[in-house]
Amino acid sequence: MTSDDHPPSNRRKTVLVTGATGYVGSRLIPRILPHYNIRCLVRDPSRLDETLCNQVEVSQGDVMHSPSLQNCLQGVDVAFYLIHGLGYGADFQKKDRIAAENFAAAAKEAGVSRIVYLGGLGDDADSKLSPHLRSRHEVGQIFQASGVPTIELRASVVLGPGSLSYELIRSLTQRLPMMICPKWLSTPTQPIATEDVLAYLHESIELPTEKSEVFEIGSQDVVTYGGLIQMYAKERNLTRILVRVPLLTPYLSSLWLGLVTPTSAEVGRHLIEGLRNPTVVRDDRARTIFSHQPMTTQEAIRQAVQQEA
Ligand SMILES: NC(=O)c1ccc[n+]([C@@H]2O[C@H](COP(=O)([O-])OP(=O)(O)OC[C@H]3O[C@@H](n4cnc5c(N)ncnc54)[C@H](OP(=O)(O)O)[C@@H]3O)[C@@H](O)[C@H]2O)c1
Repeated sequence: MTSDDHPPSNRRKTVLVTGATGYVGSRLIPRILPHYNIRCLVRDPSRLDETLCNQVEVSQGDVMHSPSLQNCLQGVDVAFYLIHGLGYGADFQKKDRIAAENFAAAAKEAGVSRIVYLGGLGDDADSKLSPHLRSRHEVGQIFQASGVPTIELRASVVLGPGSLSYELIRSLTQRLPMMICPKWLSTPTQPIATEDVLAYLHESIELPTEKSEVFEIGSQDVVTYGGLIQMYAKERNLTRILVRVPLLTPYLSSLWLGLVTPTSAEVGRHLIEGLRNPTVVRDDRARTIFSHQPMTTQEAIRQAVQQEA
């Protein structure tokens, strides 16, 4: 019996992972590799982890360039969209939109059954929602309107070494014994452990639903960004003093961050702008729909610090 004779339910699904060279994508692949045929969409194959190259199908493509997507998506059952436009420069929102429209159209054309997209938390009704978070939501809306059933997971800071937003918190806390910080110190957030994000993404492949759904995901508890910095300091046995300076604007804040963190001032500014917006789970349906249950923020930070070692 050839593999084509298997009943459809037994056929091994083909899963496309975009962002395969990125923080989330590169960690998702080893987790789902034992269960699915994995195809990676990459702009530059030489950037893909060498050990993965022999175990996955590598397809070169760029979401900004539609024709490069057609072959990548042929025969794909489920496609992960793990790309953001923070590196695109000032007009990142427009590029995020074009990239999502290109990807959605190519997925529809190729008959993909599901898109799984990891976006950002934040309240759509908040008129001061940062351009980065607004853009993340717009990408989700484009997928949901595409006709391809989409699972959109919305998350705040993903806690783990290598994650852009975690590195921001880590380098701030490690380098500065006393920090001059603006109002965003008291903004509530519900970060999430990398392990938990990967579990939700994995489960999304087979989630028994035919329609598009948005799920908000986070750790068990809500903290403030100031609290997060203090939790990280505690795990590293550091004492940190946080001084609030309400007049420090996001722009000045990003220049200052450029000096003390490895994140570029441009990327830092987009992330920092988002720190003024609460990013908490307001609809916790994920807790009942998914079998996975997330850890606490303190546990997530402890795990991240252990991974640093
Ligand atoms: N990290 C977090 O804290 C966090 C929190 C909430 C949500 N998320 C979401 O999670 C997803 C993945 O984020 P991440 O942290 O893994 O990002 P990341 O580490 O910065 O990786 C971004 C990935 O996107 C790829 N990419 C960028 N532009 C592309 C293009 N035009 N065509 C094809 N690939 C392109 C990059 O590939 P190259 O190697 O070619 O540059 C890279 O693999 C994003 O949707 C993000 O919004 C992340």
